[in-house]
Amino acid sequence: MIDDRRMRHLESQVDALRTKQKDSATRKTYDQVFDHAALLTIASLISDGVISTLDYPVSTGKEANVFHGTDASGRAKALKIYRIATATFRNIATYIEGDPRFKRVKRATKPTIFAWAQKEYKNLVRMGDAGVRVPIPERVLDNVVVMEYIGDETQPAPSLREVSLDSPASAYRDVVTNLRGIRKAKLVHADMSEYNLLWWQDRIIVIDVGQAVPLDHPRAEEWFRRDVANIARFFKRLRVDVTPASLEQEILRD
Ligand SMILES: Nc1ncnc2c1ncn2[C@@H]1O[C@H](COP(=O)(O)OP(=O)(O)O)[C@@H](O)[C@H]1O
Ligand SMILES: [Mg+2]
Repeated sequence: MIDDRRMRHLESQVDALRTKQKDSATRKTYDQVFDHAALLTIASLISDGVISTLDYPVSTGKEANVFHGTDASGRAKALKIYRIATATFRNIATYIEGDPRFKRVKRATKPTIFAWAQKEYKNLVRMGDAGVRVPIPERVLDNVVVMEYIGDETQPAPSLREVSLDSPASAYRDVVTNLRGIRKAKLVHADMSEYNLLWWQDRIIVIDVGQAVPLDHPRAEEWFRRDVANIARFFKRLRVDVTPASLEQEILRD
């Protein structure tokens, strides 16, 4: 149960985060993320003990905002909150249509976004089970996915794009292992690039799996090729000996 006092406390927490934002565009984003329904969802996560505080924003993306949260034992969590108000539904519909696991989802606003969050959660579980290094999924409720936070109190883990690798070749091996795992999970990531690979403690962590689709999705093959091309391009620039064809072979080889 969420009592009024708790709700007011949460509202003031969010308000404090909001007023920390300097420009009015960012503040507007906050208003779109934290509508009344989202506050209730976060309040439920708090009363269920999934988190005890919502701390600060980590990232503002096209469809979602990621926040740092903390649970009662001090463990850091990432909360990915899909925006209801400004989501680009057309993008989302492209990925959900043709995915047999989400056949019954209507194209209506809220259910689509909720299904999207469910899908990200399930994809995290499925990839994790196949040995892919992903943030450990914790809970999904409405438009919020709670997962393990990768990073420390000074910074979230940087993406591969942002680091200068001591050994691109060994990072590449790590990426290949993860791509093989995604394949083993019978999924295609579908937004694979140096932006959605985090680099933390000399290891790769795969993120942003909401759009991942099963291999029988009508566009799975096309998106797989695109993922492979992105990764090959990135590592080739770092002088790793790779082509899209060689990478594809490494992923598909038994
Ligand atoms: N589990 C996590 N731990 C730490 N930072 C994260 C985590 N998940 C996402 N982030 C940060 O938030 C950013 C956006 O998350 P992402 O899932 O890629 O969503 P999108 O790109 O769709 O906005 C990431 O690039 C990363 O900086
Ligand atoms: Mg991303």
